[in-house]
Amino acid sequence: MTAELPRTWHHGLVAQWWSEFNDEFRAHEIPYFQRFVERGQPALDVACGTGRLLLPYLRAGLDVDGCDVSPDMIALCREKADREGLAPNLRVQAMHELELPRRYRTIYVCGAFGLGSDRGRDRQALERFFDHLEPGGTLVLDKGMPYADARQWKYWLKGERASLPETAASPRERRRTSDGAEIGLRSRILEVDPLNQHVVYEMRAERWREGKLEAEETHRLDDGHYFRNELTLILERAGFVDVSVHGEHEEREPTPDDDFLVFVARKP
Ligand SMILES: C[S@@+](CC[C@H](N)C(=O)[O-])C[C@H]1O[C@@H](n2cnc3c(N)ncnc32)[C@H](O)[C@@H]1O
Repeated sequence: MTAELPRTWHHGLVAQWWSEFNDEFRAHEIPYFQRFVERGQPALDVACGTGRLLLPYLRAGLDVDGCDVSPDMIALCREKADREGLAPNLRVQAMHELELPRRYRTIYVCGAFGLGSDRGRDRQALERFFDHLEPGGTLVLDKGMPYADARQWKYWLKGERASLPETAASPRERRRTSDGAEIGLRSRILEVDPLNQHVVYEMRAERWREGKLEAEETHRLDDGHYFRNELTLILERAGFVDVSVHGEHEEREPTPDDDFLVFVARKP
């Protein structure tokens, strides 16, 4: 498994999908992370994707750099920034290999910690974040809880897991892109390893034009799962202090019903 890492699906047609359709996705996350950036600049958007958070922050005049493992996501982010006359510092880098010339008051990671990785590399990523923060700087990192996704959670049970991998199928729906084609995506779960808290997904992507299949791609994605207490402990092991946890991108205590937790940690 580790030889191919980072193994992610945000390339080609999936990257185009993010760029065309996902700017409005989970909109409440944007003001939540923005408050941290306003309290501490410069900031680094780790796994910035096509700039769903980064571009609104630049428009607001905030000093934010971005990095992402996918050259396609970074290229699309740069195109969008260029169109608005913005010129962010963007780098193609895996988070466990983060190596940037600047140090930051805030580093945030939205929807990406544990992706394309394994536990060793996740720990390295936390160390890289620690090194890239100024003393007193803040790390803000979110993670969807494994028990929040009913489709995936059932496979933590031995009996259900025996039916994996899920059946491959074509996308159910397609959406029209700005160049008049149509793109459809469909994911399936290939493996769930509850011992290592690791899930492997596959994404099938198709592009259609005038009723004809023009391109098809298949990508895989590794996702490492964490519960609250383990992630708190590895943040502390990486040197962070004052680790607090918020529920659902709101500055409040988490509850068992929260699908997403956000970990806020300080470099001493
Ligand atoms: C779900 S998207 C989120 C993008 C952006 N943060 C947002 O919220 O719109 C996940 C992003 O993480 C990036 N990514 C996945 N694994 C990564 C890794 N190990 N290092 C750096 N980036 C990674 C992907 O290329 C993709 O752009």
